[in-house]
Amino acid sequence: MPAFQTSPGMRDILAPESARWRRFTDVFAEVAELAGYGFVIPPMMEDLGVFTRLGEATEIVTKEMYDFVDKGDRHVALRPEQTAGVCRAYVEHRPITPWKTWYSGPNFRYEKPQRGRYRQFDQVGIEVLGSDDAHLDVEVIALGWEFYRRLGLQRVELLLNSLGEPGDRARYIDALRSHFESADLTAQSRATLAKNPLRVLDSKRSEDESAIEAAPTIDQYWSDAAAEHFATVRAGLEALAIPYTIDLKLVRGLDYYRRTTFEFAGLTLDSAQNALGGGGRYDGLVEALGGPPTPGIGFALGVDRTLIACDDEGVFGAPDTDVDVFVVDTVGGGEAVVLTHELRAAGISVDRSFDGRSMKAQMKGANRSGAAYAVIVGSDELAADEVAIRPLRSGGDQVSVARSELVPDLQSRLEEGNR
Ligand code: HAM
Repeated sequence: MPAFQTSPGMRDILAPESARWRRFTDVFAEVAELAGYGFVIPPMMEDLGVFTRLGEATEIVTKEMYDFVDKGDRHVALRPEQTAGVCRAYVEHRPITPWKTWYSGPNFRYEKPQRGRYRQFDQVGIEVLGSDDAHLDVEVIALGWEFYRRLGLQRVELLLNSLGEPGDRARYIDALRSHFESADLTAQSRATLAKNPLRVLDSKRSEDESAIEAAPTIDQYWSDAAAEHFATVRAGLEALAIPYTIDLKLVRGLDYYRRTTFEFAGLTLDSAQNALGGGGRYDGLVEALGGPPTPGIGFALGVDRTLIACDDEGVFGAPDTDVDVFVVDTVGGGEAVVLTHELRAAGISVDRSFDGRSMKAQMKGANRSGAAYAVIVGSDELAADEVAIRPLRSGGDQVSVARSELVPDLQSRLEEGNR
């Protein structure tokens, strides 16, 4: 057992899996940038207060935060999510609205680690500040949907709800409180009720099921404006042929949501961890952070969980990271120094052996590298100012080419192989 291992809920992501992570972000960037969203990089650590604005009653804030006092006596926290940081950045820089942003990176929550739930986990996401047009809700949801489509995922369900205007939400919470106070609930849900009646709806405990079943639903409390906003969102999704399921009990884990809320559920995953991503409107968060009244909407998608869903569906596998060429040098290794440099400069990916290994060991390395060609320099080649090219993947004969012809020769072979 080594002296040190990763902390619980934290993982090393090694190649080739890590290449898949990078490509994941690339695909997300493509989708977001096609729609005019700019990349934002908020810091991973902020004043604790930025995150406590997410709602004092959420577990993310009360139990799961990695917070500490730094050497300058500041009470700081590792970000549990990025929406609050983006809103803080908006208040600090006041960019022109609508401010359309996308982001990617790690977040930290002290949760009980299990498959699909980690203490350090990555998200990609978008946030838009400064517009409360319902068509923006449609755009945001459609971008999430398009991203899943590009990954090749099919077994994703879009769950949709509206939590109403702030007043509607408050009246609904009162109604829920009185309903649950007289209902038969587990002790855990009673404790949740005292803090946040909405979250009782999230209980997966079977003993709570009938009380939740009989609970009032938010639609009975929607104001006309909230109902109209929601109808426009639905019509927009229908116009884009994006299928959705109305889930009037979808409340989500953060307290800042108003009006549209949504979740992307992965149908291949265990129901406790099947949220691949989610988001909604948070028209009030910027104000809570000291900014002017500013509507906002966005979502975040969990990279870890989405990749589990990709594995389940057999899509978006690790990309091929094999090199094109492997240089085998049996005349001391100096030729390989120059050849690898020259080939890389020409855009050909190339690896080599070190430590003066035997021809046999180097050829083994070449085969293991997955390279299409070995470029071999021995004493005969060196004397004749030539190199040998041996096809490794396709079979075929080894040929000798003039040293000066190596780059164009390999380029045309590789091009042909790609055709
Ligand atoms: P969230 O629902 O807390 O929302 O997280 C979004 C996604 O991050 C989840 O659906 C899940 O895939 C992933 N995730 C969350 N916690 C973990 C964990 N411990 N391990 C692995 N994956 C996890 C937010 O974070 C909001 N900021 C979303 C948002 C953006 N709303 C508006 N804008």
